[in-house]
Amino acid sequence: MCGIVGYIGDKQAYPILINGLKRLEYRGYDSAGVALRTNRTQVFKCKGKVQDLENHAKGSDVSGSIGIGHTRWATHGEPNDQNAHPHSSMNNKFVIIHNGIIENYSSLKEKLIKRGYTFQSDTDTEVLANLIEYIYLKGEVSAELAVRLALTKVVGAYGLVVICDDEPDKLIAARKGSPLVVGVGNGEYFLASDATPIIEYTNSVIYLNDNDVAIISRDELVLKTIQNDKLTPHIQQLDLDIEQIEKGGYDHFMLKEIFEQTSSIHDTIRGRISTTNKEVFLGGINDVIPQLVNARRILIIGCGTSWHAGMVGEYLFEEFARIPVEVEYASEFRYRNPVIFKDDIVLAISQSGETADTLAAIKLAKEAGATVLGICNVVGSSIPRETHAGVYTHAGPEIGVASTKAFTAQVTVLTMMAMLVGYRKGTLSKEVYQELIAEFANLPEKIKRILDKEEDIKELSKKYMDSTNALYLGRGFLFPVALEGALKLKEISYIHAEGYPAAEMKHGPIALIDEQMPVFVVATKDKSYEKIVSNIQEVKARKGHVIAIVTEGDTVISEMADHVVEIPETLEPLAPLLTVIPFQLISYYIAVYRGCNVDQPRNLAKSVTVE
Ligand code: M6R
Repeated sequence: MCGIVGYIGDKQAYPILINGLKRLEYRGYDSAGVALRTNRTQVFKCKGKVQDLENHAKGSDVSGSIGIGHTRWATHGEPNDQNAHPHSSMNNKFVIIHNGIIENYSSLKEKLIKRGYTFQSDTDTEVLANLIEYIYLKGEVSAELAVRLALTKVVGAYGLVVICDDEPDKLIAARKGSPLVVGVGNGEYFLASDATPIIEYTNSVIYLNDNDVAIISRDELVLKTIQNDKLTPHIQQLDLDIEQIEKGGYDHFMLKEIFEQTSSIHDTIRGRISTTNKEVFLGGINDVIPQLVNARRILIIGCGTSWHAGMVGEYLFEEFARIPVEVEYASEFRYRNPVIFKDDIVLAISQSGETADTLAAIKLAKEAGATVLGICNVVGSSIPRETHAGVYTHAGPEIGVASTKAFTAQVTVLTMMAMLVGYRKGTLSKEVYQELIAEFANLPEKIKRILDKEEDIKELSKKYMDSTNALYLGRGFLFPVALEGALKLKEISYIHAEGYPAAEMKHGPIALIDEQMPVFVVATKDKSYEKIVSNIQEVKARKGHVIAIVTEGDTVISEMADHVVEIPETLEPLAPLLTVIPFQLISYYIAVYRGCNVDQPRNLAKSVTVE
């Protein structure tokens, strides 16, 4: 949550910061602010989007070649001007931007109040600014030491950047639990909470690790630990280009990302599925395949859409590899007292690689001695660094808050993993294994055929734009698709929606069905087809509206349903990869018709880096 940018060099910082904040707005958009350094430090900040900040600063002197900027997703204190970052310390010695949560902020605040400190905001960040200043003035120490000492007193997570008024030609950055990346330019450095604002200036980056502190001037970056141990910065080259983070002619990132699924699935299987050798190869987990083959149990953890992908994974591993799987919300798993065996394989799924609950669950599983694998999209993020091994999804940057192409890429990786393990174990026959491999190659073209129906889907979405509730039904591999369809609709159009296993409808949700209720059903031809036809009849008997995703050429359901979206036939275990796409488009267009901000839905942020 929250976006951080920083610049130090000889260019004007303001346009770089504003541009960077716009790229990071998907991380939070309650308020925004910048601090710019000339012969003094000036702060501009306000409630609202980056555009509001630009309006707010219009006409003011925004010069300066050092600066920091922030876009906020509120945790402590409502979104308003005072709570916006940057925060200044009481005597204006420090300004700070911060991502994360200082858990012991109230006890620190109390102590600071006793020492005469007053506060302008409700934030934990202002407490940190004042704590740094208190240590700096009281101890007469350098700014860097004050920051390091203050951080030893802090419990919680942070990615932060500080400017000190007395040492103005430097930025001090630190990380624990909240990501920070430094872009290395020529006589200039960039800082950001992820690489998206940096990529247009440089490909060379340094990912800070937990407990790192970077002291950055125009011509030097000194990296050390909070305890003052010197570190050697490890410069990496980013494999990312600017087109990947632009809308490329689409109205929204979400629509672009839905359409990118023809290529993102292809990128996810490239080099991993060989149709010539008829083999699956996953280099990232090659060494742990024997362990997976012999696994007594797999625990899958994730949140939101990643958890839904994990549910598909459960069906796949059980079907192909006959391994019992439990799928857990990371946030529940970590706060219960879960039973974790040393020989468990824990599989953490995350698009961002920064979800705080998933990270905490990984740590718990590691402490219990389990082998932890990751499925992650963002290269270099925290989850791949915390796990023993893993597989990247290679879906490319996902900017829209509603996850789309990351879901299909996660399911693709899970399918390849389950196939590989099942085949090696002997529970998946060579024939089915090779049939699946061959069908994978057809998926991009089949996805394109679904996307070609965009206009029809748009038309049908219009009919349901005023719904207040919706039900999504699916069975087997397609039950998680129903959950995912409902989540997509909820998060971007604010229509209440529930996903259910179709047969479970009779045990409660059927009471909701009347002539106002749209029921979205995944009803492709598979072994539950007859059953789902009965479920559709049950809905129709109660005057519900049925919108069914069916296999091309289905004449039975088109007779009963109010609308059908035909999709190409595929193998049953691969059906989630196709059936979810009409649901993504339906949610997208319903949200657009309702005038919702699709890429930045209210109250949400792309990655939830707070617990
Ligand atoms: O980055 P992660 O995959 O760990 O994020 C998990 C969820 O926060 C995320 O999937 C969220 O539910 C999306 N907004 C769903 O579209």
